[in-house]
Amino acid sequence: MNVFRAVKKAVSLLRQAPPAMNNDRVLECVEACLSYRELFMDTAREHGSPLYVVSEGRLRANARRFVEVFTRRFGMVRVFYAMKSNSMPEIIRILVAEGLGLEVSSGRELEQALAAGASRILFSGPGKTDQELEAAIANSDRVTVLIDSAGELHRLNRLTIKHMCPIRAGVRITTDSGGLWRKFGVPLNMLAVFLETARQTPFIKLEGLQFHTSWNLSPVAHTDFIRRLGGVLKDIPQELIANLAFLDIGGGFWPEDGEWLRCPGTAHGRLKNILDPSGPDTRSRFCLESSRIEMFADEISRAVHAHLSMFLKGTVYIEPGRWLCHDAMHILLNVLDVKDRRLVITDAGTNAVGWERFEHDYFPVINLSSPGVEEHSCLVLGSLCTPHDLWGYSFHGRAIESGDILLIPNQGAYTYSLRQEFIKPLPKAVVVRSDLNL
Ligand SMILES: Cc1ncc(COP(=O)(O)O)c(C=O)c1O
Repeated sequence: MNVFRAVKKAVSLLRQAPPAMNNDRVLECVEACLSYRELFMDTAREHGSPLYVVSEGRLRANARRFVEVFTRRFGMVRVFYAMKSNSMPEIIRILVAEGLGLEVSSGRELEQALAAGASRILFSGPGKTDQELEAAIANSDRVTVLIDSAGELHRLNRLTIKHMCPIRAGVRITTDSGGLWRKFGVPLNMLAVFLETARQTPFIKLEGLQFHTSWNLSPVAHTDFIRRLGGVLKDIPQELIANLAFLDIGGGFWPEDGEWLRCPGTAHGRLKNILDPSGPDTRSRFCLESSRIEMFADEISRAVHAHLSMFLKGTVYIEPGRWLCHDAMHILLNVLDVKDRRLVITDAGTNAVGWERFEHDYFPVINLSSPGVEEHSCLVLGSLCTPHDLWGYSFHGRAIESGDILLIPNQGAYTYSLRQEFIKPLPKAVVVRSDLNL
């Protein structure tokens, strides 16, 4: 890119600040958290700190609403919780008890799903080993393998012949044939060949098509792909798809709060901070709005009826992760050291969430020991030997002292399952029955 074009692009990026976060939304969240103050404080007193606090009531309410919303549009659906979004055994147990199936992406997750008593399991993901495929075959009454490539079809065929064991399967279709997402699934233009090859295998019962798109604030990625898939299916010999029993539309539904970001979480803010490294913006907050789940269900069902219903008659499978667990787990910490009024160290490090989340994403830090909605600038850091161990640049409360209990709400998705054994022990997990609606 020449310098002139680069500068033009940079100027346009600097002019396009993402939508600023409405502070009332933050205060609403803080007030909601403070309304459960007693429960959080009692939990911390009883179990110590740091803690992952799981709200069983919220998890169950989310699962029921999700199933109900999609069932109302499609008549019948099967929902499989994507275990990778939070693989805590207690969470898996609750969702299985709610009647959900599980979506797993490794032999390790498969083992956990079987032990949790899930009666329906989808085994998805690239690069399944022979050993993992054999574990699926050994549990073929409960497992459907979502085949990721022609090579995997070949290996699964060989292994099912070796074990003389039939298995249900589907095929994952690539949604984006450029860039890194190309690693997932079979390209649309190879689907007919794949289906024809699968038809000739003696033990693989190919029953469905799967696709997954990630990180969707609206249903557009789902509906665009459904339209593209319809365009391809009309040119595929109908006998290859006539008997398919399911269409799996994956997960990727963003929770209704929207995406709360700090400067480094946006292209605009990253550029701003690069241009002014001496004073990076740690105060600005942005909110990308997301669609309600009813809107996802409305638009997706409309697209399926318009583009796929003439080819596929089966059941719709859905694999939500983040949407179910995001607001069903929270983190409690204890202030260990007040180095000055604007710098405190807590007893947990961000190895509890496994990545430098709070440099990019914004969540309020709430001092439950000194409750108040007012916000004070203060570096709230963990106790790991890295400066990136950040929980927040401010806290809500009257003041902050050693021994105070802090709450970081809505940490259910892609934290616990990414947690790292690194320097400090990991938090204990506690399940509370209540429906905490933060
Ligand atoms: C195949 C598959 N299904 C479902 C999900 C869950 O996605 P989300 O947690 O965004 O709903 C993922 C996440 O990466 C996935 O890879």
